[in-house]
Amino acid sequence: VTDVRVEAGGRDHGYSVRIESGLRRRLGEVVSAVAPARRWAVIADDTVAGLHGEDALGALARAQVDATLLTFAAGEASKSRKEWTRLTDELLARGFNRDCGVIALGGGVTGDLAGFVAATFMRGIPVVQVPTTLLAMIDASVGGKTGVNAPAGKNLVGAFHAPVVVVVDPEYTQTLPRAIRAQGLAEAIKHGVIRDASYLDGLEDETDSLLSGDVASTQRVVRRSIEIKASVVSADERESGVRKILNFGHTLGHGVEAASEYAIPHGHAVSIGMVAEARMGESLGVTEAGTANHVRRVVEQFGLPTDASSVLDPSRVAAAIRSDKKGEQGVPHWVPVAKIGTAGALDGRLTLPLSEADALRALFGGGEPTRPA
Ligand SMILES: NC(=O)c1ccc[n+]([C@@H]2O[C@H](COP(=O)([O-])OP(=O)(O)OC[C@H]3O[C@@H](n4cnc5c(N)ncnc54)[C@H](O)[C@@H]3O)[C@@H](O)[C@H]2O)c1
Ligand SMILES: [Zn+2]
Repeated sequence: VTDVRVEAGGRDHGYSVRIESGLRRRLGEVVSAVAPARRWAVIADDTVAGLHGEDALGALARAQVDATLLTFAAGEASKSRKEWTRLTDELLARGFNRDCGVIALGGGVTGDLAGFVAATFMRGIPVVQVPTTLLAMIDASVGGKTGVNAPAGKNLVGAFHAPVVVVVDPEYTQTLPRAIRAQGLAEAIKHGVIRDASYLDGLEDETDSLLSGDVASTQRVVRRSIEIKASVVSADERESGVRKILNFGHTLGHGVEAASEYAIPHGHAVSIGMVAEARMGESLGVTEAGTANHVRRVVEQFGLPTDASSVLDPSRVAAAIRSDKKGEQGVPHWVPVAKIGTAGALDGRLTLPLSEADALRALFGGGEPTRPA
């Protein structure tokens, strides 16, 4: 087992991310070791419940862990207050109390939704994250962010609620469709671009085995990406400073995602966003020349999109960027990279205020930047 420690700030505890092929079969042991004698609700979407629900319940039963499976409809639309209410009421109806816990078995939607149920149930009960998508393994399950979407935007209602343990079994990715694997790998590419140039080279070398779900390559990538995410998160639990670098590609990416009304999946939007933000950095002189082409080459190699212009209307993207609630003092910010492997502008600034005109130029092409770097 590889054990990656995550240090948490504030009132939260630190926790381990345990990574091992086949670890799902020892879920019961792992769970009872960190939080003994609890009754657990395993929350999964219906797809994951169908593929892996029985197995998980079996692994829990073998360790005498009392567990009940609760499901919801797969998809981002379930990451809602409505579904949070329904699941919470279901726990109450089944007599769950503060001595219980939640096991979030699934992708990032499940991790965020079930994590938020756990964060708020009786003012907070333990949650075990068991990610089953690559995206959830390398990104969503680590860091303690939970929440649901609101009509005004994604992830606008939520809480920090660190898991008691994260159980990562890379073999779960074997049942993933190739396209969803690729979407998760967009975040691995991001980790390389912001923190580790040689990791990015490795991703380029192993593209085919990663896309086809080779367990050894997947395990290596999952481990390295989790190390990168955990080190950034441990340095900064509440996203005040360095944690922001994880948003590389995401300011423009979220604009693209929102403008498409979430028809463009997150991993695709981030791919487009990373290429555009690298391009924007180069044209503003805060990113080393050639970076955008390098990012584009890797993203393309994974069959991920690099361009929004054929599918999106620039004015809708502009409107989506303008309504982004996550700015600083009301101004949207973005994260430049100085070069491959190093987040932050060439002059060291971690974030820069976003000019809408620059953003649209980077995404859709056209003239020179309107302002100096
Ligand atoms: N909390 C965070 O820090 C954080 C970080 C990144 C993303 N997120 C959130 O994560 C969500 C996206 O995550 P996602 O891409 O995992 O989405 P998801 O949970 O919807 O999973 C994608 C699809 O894969 C299916 N699936 C999951 N595991 C499977 C498996 N092993 N085999 C076959 N099918 C499987 C699911 O049923 C679903 O249809 C977004 O809501 C995003 O906001 C959160
Ligand atoms: Zn992301």
